[in-house]
Amino acid sequence: MADIYKAVKLTDKVYWVGAIDWTIRDFHGYTTHRGSTYNAYLILADKITLVDTVKAPFREELISRIASVVDPGDIEIIVSNHSEMDHTGCLYELIDLIQPEQVVASTMGTKTLGDIYHRDRTITPVKDGGELSLGNMRLRFMETRMLHWPDSMFSYLPEEEILFSHDAFGMHLATAERFDDEIDPAILDYEGATYFANIILPYAPLVTKLVNRVASSGMTFKFIAPDHGPIWRRDIPGVIANYSRWAAQKPTMKSVVVYGTMWHSTERMARAICEGLAAAGAAAKCMSMEVFHRSDVVYEVLDAGALIVGSSTLNNNMLPQVADVLTYLKGLRPANLLGASFGSYGWSGEAAVHIADILKEMKVSPVAEPLKAQHVPTREDLRKCYALGEEIARKLGEK
Ligand code: FEO
Repeated sequence: MADIYKAVKLTDKVYWVGAIDWTIRDFHGYTTHRGSTYNAYLILADKITLVDTVKAPFREELISRIASVVDPGDIEIIVSNHSEMDHTGCLYELIDLIQPEQVVASTMGTKTLGDIYHRDRTITPVKDGGELSLGNMRLRFMETRMLHWPDSMFSYLPEEEILFSHDAFGMHLATAERFDDEIDPAILDYEGATYFANIILPYAPLVTKLVNRVASSGMTFKFIAPDHGPIWRRDIPGVIANYSRWAAQKPTMKSVVVYGTMWHSTERMARAICEGLAAAGAAAKCMSMEVFHRSDVVYEVLDAGALIVGSSTLNNNMLPQVADVLTYLKGLRPANLLGASFGSYGWSGEAAVHIADILKEMKVSPVAEPLKAQHVPTREDLRKCYALGEEIARKLGEK
């Protein structure tokens, strides 16, 4: 294996030694259309240091890439920036194999690793703002609590101007290329925004604070090296600016109309709403949950100003595919949205009301009462849907 999987050089002293997961398509409900990578980094300091590891099934790939540069047994320090299993799945096997002098994590990281793996190996806590000597280099630590776990921390290598940023600034994208300047910028924009929307969004206010803290820290970057996807070396200002913009969730003139339908009645209502939106100058994204995935919806909501959700009533409730996307969206806590609900029904019509209740819990500002149509929408029903679209566009224009 050692002659197949090679390390990739960032600088003379720092190498990528991670793993490429070409086939993963689900990350806790988030569809990873293009696979992912689990990035780990080797620092050839006086004390050879490994920053993060990889998901358990990729242990051999990690060891092989390390072995293409140094004997894995020469690693003296392992840094765990984030305890989640895609970065620590083989941590203890690696510890057993190479017996490093020291393993470090944030204070919460030491606890979390203990809670996950139930091993008695001592993990040394490092403090926010603290430094660890690697001999001729040092690592400086910055806790990034709740981005996106309580344990998360950045490690910064000032001598090489590299920020090891765990999940932050990452994306789920499996490629043979390792650096941002080797990959189509449109793919980076799309996958970066999708990743932010599906993983980072609940903690958006913390992102804003973190970006400000990084900006005032005096740190300079030649590389931002996340734990997933490409390493940033060309457009570092761009990726930081994207995080600021996405975290702000400034509403735009775009509306996302999400729906589930039984006999196309709710679908006709959705289409009429979209026509009204477009006619009044708002962009409309019409998303049937029969064909779109929940993580695609979240991507569209990230820069939207309105979320309009519809469902036929089935057994006094909304359709399961609509409940699915609402549950997912609610957890991700999108902000600054106008909204409305709608749906067709046969004889009871609870779906639109239940949706309105959930939108309220999500702090989506209602523009109108739930809009219902019995069995098949009449011309008048569709006219009301069209008018709802116009009204939402008008309110978006006032924001
Ligand atoms: Fe990539 Fe939160 O783990």
